[in-house]
Amino acid sequence: MAIREILVAPDPKLKMKARRVETFDDDLRKLLDDMVETMYAAKGIGLAAPQIGVPLRAIVMDLARDEEEDAAPRKFLNPEIVWESDEEVPCEEGCLSVPGQYAEVTRPAQCRVRYQDENGVRHEIDCDGLLAVCIQHEMDHLEGVLFVDHLSMLKRNMILRKVAKARREKAS
Ligand code: NI
Repeated sequence: MAIREILVAPDPKLKMKARRVETFDDDLRKLLDDMVETMYAAKGIGLAAPQIGVPLRAIVMDLARDEEEDAAPRKFLNPEIVWESDEEVPCEEGCLSVPGQYAEVTRPAQCRVRYQDENGVRHEIDCDGLLAVCIQHEMDHLEGVLFVDHLSMLKRNMILRKVAKARREKAS
């Protein structure tokens, strides 16, 4: 396993639409293992392949957020929302590609997601609470959408300016 570099906004690779996973082989499983390790190292609860520059419809998540024995990384390939609730809830979100910034985003409270596991087997999962928020956030990455794209332009630009400033300060 290896820790990969996480791309930071406004990297153009974060805006690309990811393509379907067609081959469920050892290369894919190695990519997923790298994504899990990268997510844990960054102390995130979810990571999408485009965030490490790989334009594939692949997501890893672990809401337990640590690498201890109870770590339970979930892997979702080619996820699709097959149902979502009319009820929407606001939740404060952050993103490893928008480091240090948080904002409230409103999304459907529940959803059902169809996906394939790392062996290509199809599953469906009913999501609510943090799981629903996280999976919708990660699926946005597969469409080139960041959580800041759900905000007003004013708020989005303010956040992206802060990210750019923090980056410049870190580099100097
Ligand atoms: Ni994100």
